[in-house]
Amino acid sequence: MQDTPFTYACSVDAKSSQSPNASLFTLESMQFFGRVASDYEAMFAIRLAELSGKHVLDCPSGPSSFVSEANAVGVHAIGVDPLYDQPLEVLLQRGAADVDYTMARMGDNSSEFGDVNLQAYASSKLQAMIRFARGFEQGKANGVYRAAQLPNLPFADGAFDLVLSGHLLLTYSSPESGGILPNSDFSLAWHVEAVMELVRVCRGEVRLYPTTTRWKTPCRHPYAEAIAEHCTSRGMRVRYEPSSFARGHHVHDALNACMVISR
Ligand SMILES: C[S@@+](CC[C@H](N)C(=O)[O-])C[C@H]1O[C@@H](n2cnc3c(N)ncnc32)[C@H](O)[C@@H]1O
Repeated sequence: MQDTPFTYACSVDAKSSQSPNASLFTLESMQFFGRVASDYEAMFAIRLAELSGKHVLDCPSGPSSFVSEANAVGVHAIGVDPLYDQPLEVLLQRGAADVDYTMARMGDNSSEFGDVNLQAYASSKLQAMIRFARGFEQGKANGVYRAAQLPNLPFADGAFDLVLSGHLLLTYSSPESGGILPNSDFSLAWHVEAVMELVRVCRGEVRLYPTTTRWKTPCRHPYAEAIAEHCTSRGMRVRYEPSSFARGHHVHDALNACMVISR
């Protein structure tokens, strides 16, 4: 698929006052970094208590504890990540190093993260990883954790009631397009293909977070706009739901939202 033109959902002021090359925060590589279930509730505007008995896919799941915490309260949750083909020991070493690296980068970017308590932030990520680690080997044996990668998932059409995708799509696009990964291979065409795969395995809603750029003056991510257009032109419904996840003080509340796609 060719990349198609898209529009920037920035205000006129934001457009004229900045270059789109101005992401404040970049990382040198994809991080094996995960959040706790309460963060997922905030990111995706969901309530675990309301998902009991539902089939939920978390892709990518990384070292997040969402799948473990969700299964503990009766949700049928499955986590997918390409790194799940690695032994647990390797995942933990990688995860701990990635928390250290990300904290150092956040510390270097006080203009964006100056009001974040980095110690509490790091400790929440380590808590997620410990909880993930406790259930990983058993979960892998049971098919709860699956090694796979977008845009090809090993699931039947409509296998899940809810599909969650956090901090991969849009986030790891290039700084010029609004993401944090210089030399990113994740083009707009890749994003559209990845989202269509998430839609394929879902019979309910696909929820994506975050949906803003990392630019100095954040906007709706241009790829989010293009994905929404792609979906609506094929008869799907797309809406944004406000997220209460802390996205850094410079993201305006009105922009802090997850994208919800349904057929
Ligand atoms: C920052 S983590 C996000 C984890 C979790 N969703 C969260 O928000 O805390 C990003 C993850 O994406 C995984 N990843 C990289 N390429 C992928 C792909 N093509 N498909 C699915 N996951 C991928 C990485 O291995 C990494 O664990």
